[in-house]
Amino acid sequence: MKKVVLIPGDGIGVEITSAIKTILETANAQVDWVEKSAGLGAYQETGNPLPEETVETIKEHRIALKGPLTTPVGTGFRSVNVALRQQFNLFSNIRPARTLPNIDSPFRNVDMVIFRENTQGLYIGKEHWIDEDKKNHAESIAVVTEAASRKIITAAFNYARANDRKKVTLVHKANILKFTTGLFLEVGRSVAADYTDVEFEDLIVDNMAMQMVMRPQRFDVVVTTNLFGDILSDLASGLVGGLGVTGAANIGDDAAMFEAVHGSAPDIAGQNKANPLALLFSALMMLEHIDQKKIAEDIRKAIYKTLVERKVYCTPDIGGEGTTSTFTQAVCDNI
Ligand code: NAI
Ligand code: MG
Repeated sequence: MKKVVLIPGDGIGVEITSAIKTILETANAQVDWVEKSAGLGAYQETGNPLPEETVETIKEHRIALKGPLTTPVGTGFRSVNVALRQQFNLFSNIRPARTLPNIDSPFRNVDMVIFRENTQGLYIGKEHWIDEDKKNHAESIAVVTEAASRKIITAAFNYARANDRKKVTLVHKANILKFTTGLFLEVGRSVAADYTDVEFEDLIVDNMAMQMVMRPQRFDVVVTTNLFGDILSDLASGLVGGLGVTGAANIGDDAAMFEAVHGSAPDIAGQNKANPLALLFSALMMLEHIDQKKIAEDIRKAIYKTLVERKVYCTPDIGGEGTTSTFTQAVCDNI
């Protein structure tokens, strides 16, 4: 049994994490959940959206599955998601986007995985006013280091090799941002030289955006800096049905956190309408990460089978007439 910290989170979090527990148990996943709190619920209870006890438990077990967290507006506390990424140096944000049966999209046969550098680039929050009094001129600093670039690009190549992927596409803007993304590209070329069994190409980000819409099938593994990765990974989700049907992982050298990309959906919380699919796909990435690949594959097959019968069992957001419970039950039956 592998101990995994489970953070149900807020809003629909309890409903979808409970669906995940049921499905993983049915599939006989060797997971022993250690439940801890974070988010708005934790804040209301303890005054801290990320209680020390939760952080300590993640430190101990090093693997977490996290439901969506409500970020209260105007209380001044920063994103728990960002805090967790920084605390555990979860430098790879991994977002697969794969065409699903019966999910509406004009794009077919998409199967790509985006690796986004999670700790640097323009997202480090180094911003300041040039004129502190007038606040009419601002500046933001992007940081790129050789070491962090090497880590994320190597992670992308290792993933490609381990999962029998053929190509890594590095996305940059080195023609304009010659120092920062130029360095990222240079490191990419140097890492690629050690992986001659994997094809390597580089594309400028604006061209990438166009190519992803015109011919998304040509992409396999993609690696890029923080800002570009943020935008392109949502774009990729959009190609296969949106944030409700794509999972995500945040992985570092010695800790990993798996999460849905959507929010806590307060508008449908407690109504048995929430779709557990995004968090379920994240849970499958977690199972693969802890070497329970066969179980992940069994669940994936059961999901696909359920989607084919989507009208009856699936939740309304993907065009079904079912509920969280009917979907969960159908996946369990198909396992
Ligand atoms: P949201 O993703 O919660 O909801 C947007 C729309 O998508 C809503 O109509 C919602 O009902 C629907 N939706 C989302 N997930 C769904 C699911 N699994 N099944 C069916 N429908 C689903 O985004 P919103 O409303 O902007 O944010 C709500 C709260 O969530 C905010 O407090 C925000 O800060 C937080 N949030 C947390 C994230 C995280 O923890 N990773 C990510 C995004 C937002
Ligand atoms: Mg994003």
